[in-house]
Amino acid sequence: MSSESSLKSYINWRLILILVAFLMTVHYILYNNDYNPLKKEIPESQSHSGSKSHSGPNSRPKNFYDFHDMKAAPDSIETETSTADDTQSGKKASSASSAKTAAGKTTDGNSQEEYVAICLAVKDQGRDLPEWLTHHYHHVGIKRFYIMDDGSDPPLSTIQMDYGIPKSAITFHYQDRATRAAAMQPVFYSQCNEWHGANHTWIAYIDADEFLETTGKETLEEILKTFEPDELVGALGVNWKTHNSNGHLKRPKSCREAFTSCLVDSDEEQYGGTDDNHHIKSIVKTSFFGGAQNPHKFGLRDGAMTVGETGDIIHSIAWRSPITRDRIALHHYAVKSREEFEDKLLRSNAMSDPKSEGFWEYIEAMRPVEECKEMAQYKP
Ligand SMILES: *[C@@H]1O[C@H](CO)[C@@H](O)[C@H](O)[C@H]1NC(C)=O
Repeated sequence: MSSESSLKSYINWRLILILVAFLMTVHYILYNNDYNPLKKEIPESQSHSGSKSHSGPNSRPKNFYDFHDMKAAPDSIETETSTADDTQSGKKASSASSAKTAAGKTTDGNSQEEYVAICLAVKDQGRDLPEWLTHHYHHVGIKRFYIMDDGSDPPLSTIQMDYGIPKSAITFHYQDRATRAAAMQPVFYSQCNEWHGANHTWIAYIDADEFLETTGKETLEEILKTFEPDELVGALGVNWKTHNSNGHLKRPKSCREAFTSCLVDSDEEQYGGTDDNHHIKSIVKTSFFGGAQNPHKFGLRDGAMTVGETGDIIHSIAWRSPITRDRIALHHYAVKSREEFEDKLLRSNAMSDPKSEGFWEYIEAMRPVEECKEMAQYKP
């Protein structure tokens, strides 16, 4: 009898150990904050194979789409920011806690203008900026842009260009090549929040080839306001809508007008809910900002979470399923024209954002597409 019960407890003890190990593994897979899981699964060899085997819409390399590579994020982003130019760190805009209060008591009459801003990390994409700025200023109502210039030559701030919006709406920060960290994007994002977070309730972190669209009757500000009082919400995750080249070889005048062919949304079952359009980008409450986990999702303070447009909690590190865009969408011009894609290949070396010929083939030929003309209606 007693040997039987000691055997029983022996088995239970082992079961508990196994269960704990299993749960830790699951936790690691689902909630790992590192960039590496995103990166690891990209088959490098694929991109150099040059094989033209169009393997049909149902076969695609796992995580093949995700070439937004931020390498390893610095463990302490805060210490990294001090490497940036000194004139800026001199006027650092206080901590997150002050952002919390500042947002509520902006009384200088421009609180509306300052409610949400965009932080853009960019290099040598000056030609793309007029349409991108015009769209977000005039059609999305964003009146403040932080352009984190990653060593453009010449610096973007020195280029005389009509951006289609008041110059005063743009704040440039120039990052010298010499003092550049290996992975600048998470550093830029932390700088944006640290230096300017106090002036805004939300900051959106998107790229120059990504365009926000409010798809319903609400403005962006109205959408964000619905999430503002909820202390459990730290960020809004917006699903991508991925556009292909639409057969364009040369750079068109307007990308919104030219690229009106999009990848069809897949079901979660088809690709595990991690393919192109399942990706999100984040609009983050400045008072909850903890740091970029990857280009898509952010660490948030006080246990706050990233939610989708319906208030659904996004647990994954970069994706949202099911995909909905009833209130807000993020159009991702993944390749643009052939000409621009080739420019991107050259640029990517510098931005540690490796694109490859395989990526072009994937976007252009391996997935079903549908017409998507909604962005062409925005003029200018
Ligand atoms: C905040 O906004 C005010 C008014 O537009 C501006 O003068 C100030 O420089 C801004 N501060 C930061 C840190 O961006």
